[in-house]
Amino acid sequence: MKLRYVMIAVIAALGLVAVMLLRENIAQRKAEAKYTTFRVVELSEQTSDPAEWGKNFPRQYDAYKRTVDMEHTRYGGSEADPFAVGEDGIRKTVSKIEQDPRLKTMWAGYAFAIDFREERGHAYMLHDQRETDRVLKRNQPGACLHCHASTTVPYRQAGLDAGAAGTLADPLLSAAGKEQLMKGFSIVSAEPYSNATQRAQHPVSCIDCHDPQSMQLRITRPGFLNGIAALAASDDPLPHLPSITAWRKGDRAHPYDPNQLATRQEMRSFTCGQCHVEYYCGPKTTLFFPWNKGLKVEQIEAYYDEYKFPDGAPFSDWKHQLTGAAAIKVQHPEFELWNQGIHARSGVSCADCHMPYIREGASKISSHHVRSPLLNVAQSCQVCHRYSENEIKERVFTIQDRTKKLMDRGLDAIVGLIADIGAAMKAGATDAQLAEARQLQRKAQYRVDFINAENSMGFHAPQEAARILGEAIDYAQQGRLAVAKIKFVQQAAVETGVSESK
Ligand code: HEC
Ligand code: HEC
Ligand code: HEC
Ligand code: HEC
Ligand code: HEC
Repeated sequence: MKLRYVMIAVIAALGLVAVMLLRENIAQRKAEAKYTTFRVVELSEQTSDPAEWGKNFPRQYDAYKRTVDMEHTRYGGSEADPFAVGEDGIRKTVSKIEQDPRLKTMWAGYAFAIDFREERGHAYMLHDQRETDRVLKRNQPGACLHCHASTTVPYRQAGLDAGAAGTLADPLLSAAGKEQLMKGFSIVSAEPYSNATQRAQHPVSCIDCHDPQSMQLRITRPGFLNGIAALAASDDPLPHLPSITAWRKGDRAHPYDPNQLATRQEMRSFTCGQCHVEYYCGPKTTLFFPWNKGLKVEQIEAYYDEYKFPDGAPFSDWKHQLTGAAAIKVQHPEFELWNQGIHARSGVSCADCHMPYIREGASKISSHHVRSPLLNVAQSCQVCHRYSENEIKERVFTIQDRTKKLMDRGLDAIVGLIADIGAAMKAGATDAQLAEARQLQRKAQYRVDFINAENSMGFHAPQEAARILGEAIDYAQQGRLAVAKIKFVQQAAVETGVSESK
């Protein structure tokens, strides 16, 4: 009797295993069918040209090409400037510094005060970088290319030219491939931009996000590989990134490597986090992402405050022309802000909203027409939120309008502080007297900039955006009080005839 039960159990278990194997096999076949039905050309680690990939994957390629479209939303999308035309006849986008001159005051003395425009689709990234006045009128490093071109093959080629082992046929993620990539990255980054850009031919392309054999997502950007490894080693809680949480519990013998450890859902955000992040990209050291202490605004600030350049100088992006403050310029921290929001916490990735699944004929594919989700609410939002398109948009606008109102107050307060410091300098205030106000300018401006440079107008993490702007306004007003105090002390000195000791 007993034996019969055991036999039945064993047979049942074997049957279950067989069914599971069969299912896995079917799933695998299905996945293969999905990707390989149209295998017309052989793709390799050398195929940079998206048109080649497009022969195998025409739907994704068609959508990818549509990133040239320009359509604006209340705060996002893209908009051409009717009057500004580049030398090649292609219209530029609207200038953000002309739209809001307070930005010129905030960035006085820095390249962003000469040209800063609305961003647009991926198709333009290389073109727009080449024609900005920030490149034409200032010397920029080759590191700029990291996020504006298909750099996977050019980096590897530069690495090989400098003596890295192997050939371009090595898989990118092999030891040789990685060495070529990293070596090439340091070489290209250190070149002048005018040299580096000649190595590039395409904007971000299929090979930069996909393995040419398996089509799996992969990370190809050295800045992100270094940055995410440093982030994993920090103690910033990241409960929504399960592979980092798991790595932290291990022996940490090897640095965190997203290409080996990240879940598929994490990869659907990490591929975007390779570029949509705050970074240092200047002449003093190789491009880096400041994530060693975490992704929150004050953790990045604390890292910068501690950081010393190789020449020993403390970190700043530029010295403010009107006040002498050592200031920090923030760039597009979409990945960082998304990480603080409810969607990240709920496991919703960048691709879920910006590359939603769409139906085309019989197949379901990811929209490679990367753009504002407000231009595609049905596929981007309504799959999860059962409200009308109008209602969903209104909810987004409510968040964005509130963020904008706070940001306006922040900008006004900073412009006021800059004027106050300038006036105090004219009245003879010393560097020692101004140190506190300048430090507060740095803190306030860094925070307003964080939300101003982030491109969702608060949507990616509404309450966090409001907190950051609230702090910015407070720091700016504290700065103005610090200047008022200098005047008060000077006045008192004149009246009593006693001068403040230095
Ligand atoms: C829950 C959906 C959602 C997720 C997840 C999400 N975004 Fe967004 N994103 C939006 C919305 C909504 C906007 C505002 C669009 C607008 O104003 O037109 C936006 C704006 C943007 C913009 C500016 C778009 C434009 O047209 O100007 C960029 C760039 C962006 N997001 C990148 C990212 C990145 C990178 C991630 C992941 C790290 C991410 N987003 C995650 C919904 C999302
Ligand atoms: C870490 C990635 C990264 C690096 C490095 C980088 N960019 Fe960008 N850049 C982006 C992203 C993402 C956008 C789109 C979002 C935005 O404009 O806020 C962008 C937008 C731009 C734009 C269009 C909007 C504007 O600012 O006028 C220009 C021009 C530009 N970058 C030039 C440069 C230059 C010059 C450098 C080198 C100093 C550089 N970029 C380095 C990621 C990067
Ligand atoms: C190689 C760097 C790079 C990667 C990877 C990248 N982006 Fe971008 N993205 C850019 C740059 C640069 C621009 C601005 C181009 C310009 O203005 O010329 C941009 C623009 C955008 C825009 C603005 C489009 C518009 O119409 O205004 C959105 C939205 C966006 N990216 C989302 C994403 C998402 C989502 C991902 C991941 C699936 C992603 N990006 C991956 C560099 C990158
Ligand atoms: C900025 C990164 C990025 C670039 C560039 C990119 N893709 Fe994708 N691609 C994705 C993401 C994200 C997915 C969704 C993958 C997933 O969920 O596992 C995807 C999915 C796919 C898939 C699987 C089927 C589907 O649609 O979901 C194919 C095939 C594909 N891409 C082809 C291409 C081709 C061809 C190009 C170049 C023309 C390209 N991709 C460029 C990010 C990118
Ligand atoms: C994959 C599912 C998914 C997608 C896609 C998605 N959301 Fe959400 N959204 C959520 C979840 C989960 C929450 C958290 C609240 C909850 O658990 O119900 C949320 C919350 C929100 C909130 C409340 C935010 C807050 O801070 O309280 C808004 C507004 C919102 N979503 C708008 C959007 C918009 C707009 C889009 C499209 C651009 C979108 N969502 C796409 C799942 C999604």
